[in-house]
Amino acid sequence: MHHFNYKNDVLHCEDVPIPEIAAAVGTPFYCYSAATLRRHFQVFDGAFSLPHLTCFAVKACSNIAILRLFARLGGGMDIVSGGELYRALAAGVPAERIVYSGVGKTRRELHEALEAGILQFNVESAQELETLAQEARALGVRAPVALRVNPNVDPKTHAYISTGLAKNKFGIPEEEALELYRRAAEMEHIRVQGVSCHIGSQLTQLSPFVEALDKMVAFVERLRQAGINVSWLDLGGGLGITYDQEEPPPPADYAEALARGLAGLDCRLILEPGRVIVGNAGILVCSTLYTKRGGKHFIIVDAAMNDLARPSLYDAFHCVQAVKGPERRRVRADLVGPICETGDFLARDQDLPDLAPGELVAVMSAGAYGFSMASNYNSRPRAAEVLVDGARFAVIRKRETYEDLVRGETIPDFLAQS
Ligand code: LLP
Repeated sequence: MHHFNYKNDVLHCEDVPIPEIAAAVGTPFYCYSAATLRRHFQVFDGAFSLPHLTCFAVKACSNIAILRLFARLGGGMDIVSGGELYRALAAGVPAERIVYSGVGKTRRELHEALEAGILQFNVESAQELETLAQEARALGVRAPVALRVNPNVDPKTHAYISTGLAKNKFGIPEEEALELYRRAAEMEHIRVQGVSCHIGSQLTQLSPFVEALDKMVAFVERLRQAGINVSWLDLGGGLGITYDQEEPPPPADYAEALARGLAGLDCRLILEPGRVIVGNAGILVCSTLYTKRGGKHFIIVDAAMNDLARPSLYDAFHCVQAVKGPERRRVRADLVGPICETGDFLARDQDLPDLAPGELVAVMSAGAYGFSMASNYNSRPRAAEVLVDGARFAVIRKRETYEDLVRGETIPDFLAQS
């Protein structure tokens, strides 16, 4: 369900025609629908009747306008870096609704998050716990902690985005975790309050979630038997979306399956959804530059792998649509960008609309891990981001300029003389 629809054969985001935005801001740009973002957040959050906090995974889409939108709906944030903490606070998210995950939090990042007073640190190793305790002591505070347990569950998704298998770098194996909880419980500057896990992303089945949940519930019970009481259970994110033919479970089924597994546990739940909230709430709009119809058909556009890395990185599928005149001849072709790499494609061997130079193109389902993974490769200024709300739209991130590209770079004195 989203608000990108054709009216009179022209793609609109809510009530705004895409060509109107393109004329105002140029291409390429990301376009997000506020109505879709709100709806997805509310459907997800509203599916849980248990006491819970929905912490949006900032990495999926980090623009502060979008974080603000979720904060206004009562959302918290799941962060994985000091930069994401900065963004969440800049967006006005209360610190007591922020949870911090990740295997490599630096001392400085831990310090900043302690100073901010966040809800929970999801600690992923004994050494991190020790560092956190030292920083908490220096600040004279107690750090609220959950250990991230690696439940060794196969999420049945792309290998690069599986995180809950023993061979993945994430979390702590159960046996070690139990021992570490015992130690943590005795540390003066650590307050043990929860357990966390996250098994992967773009999951399209419920069974791995349920398997992980069952293991976590059993683990919480073991902890309690050992005299360690926890009141928060963080189950991470990972619910998938439809890019093509996938049929992921709707949030209501996901919530129901979790509620069943949690019955009687007496824990507040933390959820860290990213993709399911923003994935289908954003598109990447670009313009066709040229076409090549030799042996193979290429449609060359002004967006590239630096703007949307997912196809190159994960061989991910994104549906490609003509912004004007959707019903047209289709051709088997690649949609490629200007970057000097064969791996630079947005669509490969797909039946694409037969686009001519100058035409606008929409790459769908680009709201999650789209702009947030963009880079300046080939010295390409990053695209603009636009938020539509009803009949209004606003640029929520300006297109970068050439000056932005070299900001912070200097030519040292020893090279300055000719
Ligand atoms: N919580 C933690 C600890 C995570 O590592 C992640 C995602 C999430 C929550 C949110 O997962 P989601 O609900 O969005 O599936 N760049 C990849 C996805 C990487 C996901 C990393 N972790 C992609 O474009 O498919």
